[in-house]
Amino acid sequence: MPKVLCVGQDKGGAGKSLAARALAEAVPSAPIIEVDSTRRLLELEHRTSFFPMRAERSEIERTGGRAARAEFDDVINAIASATEPTIVDIGANTGKSLLSILADLAPDLAEGGIQLGLLVIVTNEPGAIAEASPLLTTAKAFDASFVLENRLRGPIDPATLKAIAGSRPVSVLPEFNLEDQAQQILQGAGLVAAELVDAKKLTELHGIALGARIRRDLTALRLGAMQAVRKPAEWLVSGA
Ligand SMILES: Nc1ncnc2c1ncn2[C@@H]1O[C@H](COP(=O)(O)OP(=O)(O)OP(=O)(O)O)[C@@H](O)[C@H]1O
Ligand SMILES: [Mg+2]
Repeated sequence: MPKVLCVGQDKGGAGKSLAARALAEAVPSAPIIEVDSTRRLLELEHRTSFFPMRAERSEIERTGGRAARAEFDDVINAIASATEPTIVDIGANTGKSLLSILADLAPDLAEGGIQLGLLVIVTNEPGAIAEASPLLTTAKAFDASFVLENRLRGPIDPATLKAIAGSRPVSVLPEFNLEDQAQQILQGAGLVAAELVDAKKLTELHGIALGARIRRDLTALRLGAMQAVRKPAEWLVSGA
């Protein structure tokens, strides 16, 4: 039974794509569905189907109409035709709408052999904290759900996190302070850059000390991110 794991958080910049990248490394055979206003997972392009969303979602929903209702048809069809474990990176402001359609269709998708999972990313920002519970509630008919506390903006108060997650598994991604050059490499080449980056070239460009720090930064972030998605990744491939 193919499993489809959605990564969501309607607040922007919370680490959804980073988590999707880590999942993509943990499950190298998994195709990726990217739902966003622009393509972000550039280094994973060969295994990614991109579904463009208009950025002004709230306006689209407010004005309603047939175009708004049909906006997700192609994504839903792609999810429904999954034949192997699949990762869905849902861009900001899109999670609630897409997940509520998926929740309505969950019984039909299950009949077609698709099991749905949700990984919600939460950061210590009021917007991200406020968005997390509604997303998890929307997806309560899903087969599995997980919470990732991304400490990018500091740790979340434990009681608040507990109130969001309930009995769901929670993992933690520490904050990594990357050198600017490491951040740039990451943007262009993704987590896999940790493996591909040419140590000799980095030393030539930046000297041995900074070159080594850049490599260490990339490796540490990659390892941290992969540890933080371990449980959802295991769910994704279990019974496959
Ligand atoms: N724990 C962390 N430590 C250091 N950098 C991080 C961490 N989490 C995320 N980042 C960085 O923060 C930026 C935003 O992350 P990302 O693009 O994954 O967020 P997103 O939720 O997908 O954003 P969007 O809403 O635009 O889709 C990226 O540059 C990412 O590498
Ligand atoms: Mg993203």
